[in-house]
Amino acid sequence: MRTAHTSVLTWLLAAASWAAASSAPSTAGASEEKMENAPTSHMLEKEIPENAADTAHLAFLHGPAILSGSDLRYTKSRLWDFMKHVWKAEWQPEPEPHGHCSHMQLQHTATIFGRRFPLLDLSVSARQVGPGLVFLIFKHAFLGHGIILQTVTPLEPLLQNVVHKIYYQKNVPAIIPKFILRAECIQFERDVTIWNNKQYLPRPLLVCEDAGIQKHRRWFAQFYSERSTRPSVPKGDLDW
Ligand SMILES: [Fe+2]
Repeated sequence: MRTAHTSVLTWLLAAASWAAASSAPSTAGASEEKMENAPTSHMLEKEIPENAADTAHLAFLHGPAILSGSDLRYTKSRLWDFMKHVWKAEWQPEPEPHGHCSHMQLQHTATIFGRRFPLLDLSVSARQVGPGLVFLIFKHAFLGHGIILQTVTPLEPLLQNVVHKIYYQKNVPAIIPKFILRAECIQFERDVTIWNNKQYLPRPLLVCEDAGIQKHRRWFAQFYSERSTRPSVPKGDLDW
């Protein structure tokens, strides 16, 4: 058990040889805002980080403007069609001795009426530490830099509690980190709708563009032991 970033981090696997706190970037001296998502259901803890390796979903799910909100019935509304988010992402596991970490580099640009709007360019470096801790380190040319800390706490099988906290440089007005954190939560809530309505298939049919998903599952397998509970697998869904 460790304390870091005003949180208590516990890890129940006695054989774990790494400490989450020592892998964390410093947030000393930064101001803090916090948001907590309602517990999400019908999903496995591994499906949240797997999102990083699923680059194909970025344009479809996270492309519509955040102004259109998180309700997927309305995100493709023509009203908000003038603005789009464009994402470029690359995910990689880290080499030893940080094999429990993985890294995603994310580049965000926005277009308004089809034209790029450079003021909204954002570079995000996401570091996953173990199964339930993510540091999103972002930099903006004028609005400064900060860290979003995302924690995933399993409450019971298929029920996770996710907390997002933002740490931001103190000389920036609080409205800026509040807006960034809200935008991040809107995008996250779009994923939650998908997670709550999908089925987890251990051996899905993947095309070559989905190779990252298989790679991520191999990396994430290190956090399970032989005694870990396995999800019940739907049978016959892909038979015809
Ligand atoms: Fe996503």
